[in-house]
Amino acid sequence: MQTSEIVLVGGSGKTGGRIIRRLEARGLTVRAASRSSARPFDWEDRSTWRGALQGASSAYVAFQPDLAVAWAAEAIEALAKVAVECGLEHIVLLSGRGEESAQRSEAALTASGIDTTILRASWFCQNFSEGAFVEQIIGGRLQLPAGEIGEPFIDTDDIADAAVAALTDPRHRNQTYELTGPRALTFRQAVGEIAAAAGRPIEYQQVSTADFTGGLAAAGLPHGLIDLLEELFGQVLDGRNSNVMGGVTEILGRPATDFSEYARQTAATGIWSA
Ligand SMILES: NC(=O)c1ccc[n+]([C@@H]2O[C@H](COP(=O)([O-])OP(=O)(O)OC[C@H]3O[C@@H](n4cnc5c(N)ncnc54)[C@H](OP(=O)(O)O)[C@@H]3O)[C@@H](O)[C@H]2O)c1
Repeated sequence: MQTSEIVLVGGSGKTGGRIIRRLEARGLTVRAASRSSARPFDWEDRSTWRGALQGASSAYVAFQPDLAVAWAAEAIEALAKVAVECGLEHIVLLSGRGEESAQRSEAALTASGIDTTILRASWFCQNFSEGAFVEQIIGGRLQLPAGEIGEPFIDTDDIADAAVAALTDPRHRNQTYELTGPRALTFRQAVGEIAAAAGRPIEYQQVSTADFTGGLAAAGLPHGLIDLLEELFGQVLDGRNSNVMGGVTEILGRPATDFSEYARQTAATGIWSA
């Protein structure tokens, strides 16, 4: 059992926050590292990295803005070097599925020589309730350039449980886990399940990539984020990631949470009320 300090890079986010709560409940010593943390960490200011990592023995790393960006692998390589210099023994990396840049990031981390656990996650269920899609869902219509390709959405509570296992049980060191939900759904099906759980009409509309990016630009989103979303929808939603994988059962010994259960629990919070 790991008992020294664990640093959560991205600790204020969807996965990091859940992991911190679980580790603290076990009585472990943890601290968050992001731009707003007591010891600030900024992916775009490397002078902050050493101070944020110093004194920790292991880290969970959720990269920002997304491992799909071209500079991610070089940043992960540089972070691993600082981590080794600071005496960290183990890094758990939240990765994606199918993006070339994410694969390069995983390789750079592994090559650093530090113990690693790679958690390759499918699209998060919580994108619909805490992420990029929540406002459109509340507004009653989600418009995306995604057709009939299935995606096995994963509940971030499952990712958090897997990360806690990886951070606290040495058997998960130098392993890669493919974390997906138990069932692939199209975006239309996912929105249908949310509408049923929320008890109100919510429509899914497939739009062209040009209409999608044009709408984001009109809404004032920064160009970098629009390019990233365009790349994600174009690159990884081509069917390559539709397969359901067994990583949750491998690391946790239980099945992954079904989308319907996520939708039921989230609807009960009232977040999708009009
Ligand atoms: N969403 C998906 O479907 C999906 C699927 C697979 C993998 N992923 C991966 O998940 C990762 C994101 O994880 P998450 O969703 O848990 O995080 P998140 O909720 O997107 O955000 C985590 C935190 O990152 C911090 N942050 C933003 N910009 C930063 C910067 N420049 N430097 C340092 N911290 C910064 C923010 O805190 P502060 O404001 O305090 O800085 C934010 O609270 C990405 O690497 C992505 O590739 C996502």
